Amino acid sequence: MTGKTLVFGHRGYPEKFPENSMAGFTYAVEHGIEGIEFDVHLTKDLVPIIMHDERINRTTDGRGRIMDYTLAELRQFHLANQASVPTLAEFLQLVSHRDVQLNLELKTDKLQYPGIEKIVLAMVHATPLEHPVIFSSFHLPTLKRCQALAPDESYCWLTDKPVVNAAALVENEHLAGLHLSQYQDDVPVAERIWTVDDPQLAQQLFEKHIAGIFTDDFVTMTALRDRVLK
Ligand code: G3P
Ligand code: MG
Repeated sequence: MTGKTLVFGHRGYPEKFPENSMAGFTYAVEHGIEGIEFDVHLTKDLVPIIMHDERINRTTDGRGRIMDYTLAELRQFHLANQASVPTLAEFLQLVSHRDVQLNLELKTDKLQYPGIEKIVLAMVHATPLEHPVIFSSFHLPTLKRCQALAPDESYCWLTDKPVVNAAALVENEHLAGLHLSQYQDDVPVAERIWTVDDPQLAQQLFEKHIAGIFTDDFVTMTALRDRVLK
């Protein structure tokens, strides 16, 4: 591989802002971030919102599952910076016409959100974006449902386990990439690694010219990448 590894802000810019917050996303796009990874769930009234966990306990002042709240109810709670939970619509408005590669992770591995694929794809398709979105999920059936609805999009499977026979998996499942927690040297498509905050590991991955890394500190890692691959 010879290309330049793209640096994705993992949940935005969590080194400096609450994860998956509009403040973090906004700062990032205004300061030259190349890629943003973010996590999507559905509210009870089927509105896609951005948060990592299925529950709001860790990142807001509320408690309970996202799927048990309507958007209006969810809006009563606050992130650590007192802001509300971002909707996918708000985020897409921020990034439309921006030169930033998005990686939308469908958070369907622990709880199921029937219909999430159609809702999310329709919102993305209605937004003028500079680059086609990379869709990812730990849940392969979610990616298969997306493929049936929009076969030309880019779908990447997420896993924290070593992938046995990556070539066969990629071919059988029509994957555009694998998003892994550990580098593998046998991935025939785009390989992106999460979460890379250690400079030594990052340097090794940059030198291998993998497609991307996800990091909590895109500023530091982008500068390092540019020194390594100058
Ligand atoms: O997409 C990379 C990474 O975000 C996957 O893990 O748990 O941080 O969503 P997680
Ligand atoms: Mg994620």
